Amino acid sequence: MGPFGPQPSKRHMTARIDRPLSPHLQTYRWTLTMVLSIINRVTGVVLYFGTLLLAWWLIAASSGPGAYASVQAFTGSFIGRIIVFGYTWALLQHLLGGIRHFMWDLGYGFKPTEREALSWVALIGGISLTVLLWIAAYAIGGGR
Ligand code: HEM
Repeated sequence: MGPFGPQPSKRHMTARIDRPLSPHLQTYRWTLTMVLSIINRVTGVVLYFGTLLLAWWLIAASSGPGAYASVQAFTGSFIGRIIVFGYTWALLQHLLGGIRHFMWDLGYGFKPTEREALSWVALIGGISLTVLLWIAAYAIGGGR
């Protein structure tokens, strides 16, 4: 007897130690589905900043040629183009990620092979659509 009641048996203590711990990042085996889940959250956050950029552009357009020219100077610069390219990718990647979630919400695509395939489609689709959109934009003169 200890001061607070009976001593726990050895077996009891072992059971305590062997109890499962909550998962830690290092115990996960990385899968593409997990990587895309993180990408979806990161692109979601990036979209907030992209929305600010979009708002700046719209406000400038309604303010007059001077304000619009300064936005154009930024978005037309090398850094500006990289940022807008990144925003395009974030938007399309997040959109495809959202459609993937929509499919899951409808009850499709839960088998491991389907999950993997959907992840690849979203990832390759996001990159391809971004590049295609920019090629189209330059082709019609939007990139000048
Ligand atoms: C500018 C527009 C958008 C912004 C700022 C935005 C922002 C975000 C953010 C921050 C998250 C992460 C939330 C979290 O993990 O706690 C998120 C998740 C999500 N977004 Fe968006 N989003 C936008 C557009 C869209 C669009 C167009 C779609 C649909 C095609 C979409 C579908 C989703 C879905 C389904 C999730 C949840 C994913 C999950 O449960 O893991 N979003 N969004």
